[in-house]
Amino acid sequence: MHSPERRQAIIVLDFGSQYSRLITRRVRECHVYSELVPATTTLAQLQQNPHLDIKGFILSGGPSSVYDQNAPTCDPAILHSGLPVLGICYGMQLLALQLGGHVEPAHGLREYGPATIEVTAEPQRDRRVFRIFEGISISPAQTEHLEGPSIPSPLRLPVWMSHGDSVDQLPEGFSVLACTESNPVAAIANAQGMVGLQFHPEVTHTPQGKEIIRNFLFRICACEPGWTPGSMIEESIAQIRERVGSERVICGLSGGVDSAVAALLVHRAVGDQLTCVFVDTGLLRAGEREQVVDTFSSHLHIPLVVVDARQRFLARLAGVIDPERKRTIIGEEFIRVFEEEALRLEEPITFLAQGTLYPDVIESTSHDTASTAVRIKTHHNVGGLPEHMALKLVEPLRTLFKDEVREIGLTLGLPEEWVWRHPFPGPGLAIRIIGAIDEQRLEVLRAADKIVTDEIRLAGVYRELGQAFAVLTPLQSVGVMGDERTYANVVAVRAVTTGDFMTADWARLAPELLARISNRLVNEIPEVNRVVYDITSKPPATIEWE
Ligand code: XMP
Repeated sequence: MHSPERRQAIIVLDFGSQYSRLITRRVRECHVYSELVPATTTLAQLQQNPHLDIKGFILSGGPSSVYDQNAPTCDPAILHSGLPVLGICYGMQLLALQLGGHVEPAHGLREYGPATIEVTAEPQRDRRVFRIFEGISISPAQTEHLEGPSIPSPLRLPVWMSHGDSVDQLPEGFSVLACTESNPVAAIANAQGMVGLQFHPEVTHTPQGKEIIRNFLFRICACEPGWTPGSMIEESIAQIRERVGSERVICGLSGGVDSAVAALLVHRAVGDQLTCVFVDTGLLRAGEREQVVDTFSSHLHIPLVVVDARQRFLARLAGVIDPERKRTIIGEEFIRVFEEEALRLEEPITFLAQGTLYPDVIESTSHDTASTAVRIKTHHNVGGLPEHMALKLVEPLRTLFKDEVREIGLTLGLPEEWVWRHPFPGPGLAIRIIGAIDEQRLEVLRAADKIVTDEIRLAGVYRELGQAFAVLTPLQSVGVMGDERTYANVVAVRAVTTGDFMTADWARLAPELLARISNRLVNEIPEVNRVVYDITSKPPATIEWE
């Protein structure tokens, strides 16, 4: 049963694959709660969480070979817990090796990309072993590009492979379920619910992958589909209540969806013990402050302190050109303003509510190369606050992905327009004005930004885009208006499509839309006489210009 106290869960152990998060997402999409944890996590550690009713484990893929020095391994207690385990790629090899099988090193050969597996096991022989492929069939469209008979017998499935080593001796009690042309052991299983897949069921290039994951969840782990992001709401509220008690909470609203949903949850939990603070840095988009006040104070009735810090920010940014300097100044000033406001409140504040999302949590606990990566941009958010102010944290979105947060936001009454807003960087328009910032240039950019976003909304493509905005360049160019020569600013329009903002492509906006944007920019803003469209992807460019 799904009790709010103990939630059925599948634990994904992260061995470093680029797809690890995707596995967690796929499980959640099947309405079973899932968490991604570092590979080194032990069964004993997991069992300390009283809220989780663990139904099974998935060992992710990873870049290592099981024979590498320091290759990560799995806590043997997990493999001997009696709970089902699905090993994917590296996870399969580890499963086989740790249970007494053997893995053949790659000898330089790798199998990478699309492949076809042939399911060689027969369901009639042992139904329990075959469960992972039970009920899986293939549509004719998918067989067209496969070699061999078009009525697939035996069953052939297109899959995505990415591995070097392969299992060549099975642990006792295991059977081979499938092979590929170059690999006789592409899937293995035993009757106790241990399964190894050499391919990646979590990626869309494995069309039946979701069905395979469903089989693991429902036929092997006996999970009940019941989890939805919305089902977290009540539980989250109860947890916040327990943590906060009768103390006071402060939450910095950024105008984005994450801090808004975090604030809504905390407000549901502890009511007016929460005070939200919105800092008007003067670097906001047109109408942003009004929208925050309107939504939070008037519509949702959540106590809101609006701090007008425009002059302070402008004064500190005067003459600053270097983007990283701008970021540092804005980050520092933000902390100062926030701290002053917190001290001004009548009762002492002890908690800070933040909209930290699951990907940030995973990032900070994972063993990836983040610490050694080159710093491209410093992303300043409200992050530095707690150490500074010795506040305890409430992070109700810590286990959620962005789209799950959106769903909760909608359920809690956050207006749709807000829920689907594009992300807006903490330093705001300051990093979209190339060069020095002053009130006049901010006004120009605000007007330009409004035209770009209004037209994109009108054209009905806002949701398809990851971000769309205007950039005010330090360039001036010659133009002609009527019979007059003009010498005015060049505005760049940037619109990108992206999944995770780590990479992005420039959006192929319709020429008519670009024409409308360009016409309006030069006609309605006297300081602008030329518009260019940014056609660089990320990489090599970044999304923002600074
Ligand atoms: P880049 O420009 O690095 O941006 O491709 C990736 C995403 O991050 C946002 N961004 C920031 N967000 N503080 C933030 O809170 C920052 O300093 C910052 N710089 C970039 C950017 O808008 C995009 O969504």
